[in-house]
Amino acid sequence: MEFDAPSVIRTKRDGGVLSDAAIDWVIDGYTHGRVADEQMSALLMAIFLRGMTPAEIARWTAAMIDSGERFDFGDLGPPMVDKHSTGGVGDKITIPLVPVVLACGAAVPQAAGRGLGHTGGTLDKLESIAGFTAELSTAQIRAQLAGVGAAIFAAGGLAPADRKIYALRDVTATTESLPLIASSVMSKKLAEGARSLVLDVKVGKGAFLKTEAESRELAATMVALGNASGVPTRALLTDMNRPLGRTVGNAVEVAEALEVLAGGGPEDVVTLTVALAAEMLDAAGVDHTDPAETLRNGTAMDRFRELVTAQGGDLDRPLPVGAHSETVTAGTGGVMGDIDAMAVAMAAWRLGAGRAAPGQPVQFGAGVRIHRRPGEPVAAGEQLFTLYTDTADRLAPALAELESGWSVGAAAPEIGPLIIDRIEG
Ligand code: URA
Repeated sequence: MEFDAPSVIRTKRDGGVLSDAAIDWVIDGYTHGRVADEQMSALLMAIFLRGMTPAEIARWTAAMIDSGERFDFGDLGPPMVDKHSTGGVGDKITIPLVPVVLACGAAVPQAAGRGLGHTGGTLDKLESIAGFTAELSTAQIRAQLAGVGAAIFAAGGLAPADRKIYALRDVTATTESLPLIASSVMSKKLAEGARSLVLDVKVGKGAFLKTEAESRELAATMVALGNASGVPTRALLTDMNRPLGRTVGNAVEVAEALEVLAGGGPEDVVTLTVALAAEMLDAAGVDHTDPAETLRNGTAMDRFRELVTAQGGDLDRPLPVGAHSETVTAGTGGVMGDIDAMAVAMAAWRLGAGRAAPGQPVQFGAGVRIHRRPGEPVAAGEQLFTLYTDTADRLAPALAELESGWSVGAAAPEIGPLIIDRIEG
């Protein structure tokens, strides 16, 4: 059947349901340049405003998978399991998590992303390691999975429709949409050849979807999509009101991930890494002991070094640090109040850790170091945050973003649980 873009847009604009054939046509047309950016932008906004039925989301996801290649690494040895986060602030979890899971006996084909909106991207962080490349061919990914057991790579030929739509969403204010997030995440993950999947669905100020109800619905939608495609999928609902750990940016987050791999690091980063690892190993059917042991005994660090070396990186070269910095100190003593993840994310973005337009380079040395976390005692004059950038005139706007995101008070703030719930189909 023949379609035209205005009719498809009009159907969704007026609250209608897109047919399977219309979805297949529009995704294929956009992937191959027959549907223009402005037409897809209008359709994305209509989807943002009107939503999609579960059947439309499933078909949109399938059409995005069909836009590219689908990996099958089933012939390789260990069980393949992956995790994906819906996007957080200070979310460096993939970096320690992949080697922990590897050290416990599973394999991880991890298609990762670059920064989207205010959230950081695992690939931008890892590329701050000298020489590291995430641009791997399918043959390289296969060889690395067979040798090292894990690869962290740019989605590349997987779901190319998502790559185009993802970039367009970033510049058309259509990122925060449940059907678009669910289909974006699941198209890449179902195409990449993992046999089971664990999702880290973020909730709160630093998440794309702000309310717990929306995040629950997102998690349930993605779990259903995975299970219906024969990939057993489960999700953890986790708190993203404040940044994870003490760093937000690129190289600063890698440095913190290395602390975790060395058996130290912030408690919340360790807790989430270990909880997600246990879920992944369980989902993959791997009989395992406590994943935290691999952080204490150095085996996860060994696996990470192997992975980085295989992808051209050199962990013995120093990580970049922004050439300019500014430190915020406490005017009065007390207790650090809650820290708003969104304010810190926007500060890091202004410093150059993220992009203002698709394809722009990021500054690897840009970011924010949090010296005092919520609930920690603060003395007058003590350092609270240090901001890093290579561009001195970025410091003032970043400081302005950060200003309203923290306070020092008399009492510790009320902090809810880091892991809010677990959702399984
Ligand atoms: N991660 C993705 O891959 N896509 C989204 O839309 C959001 C987070």
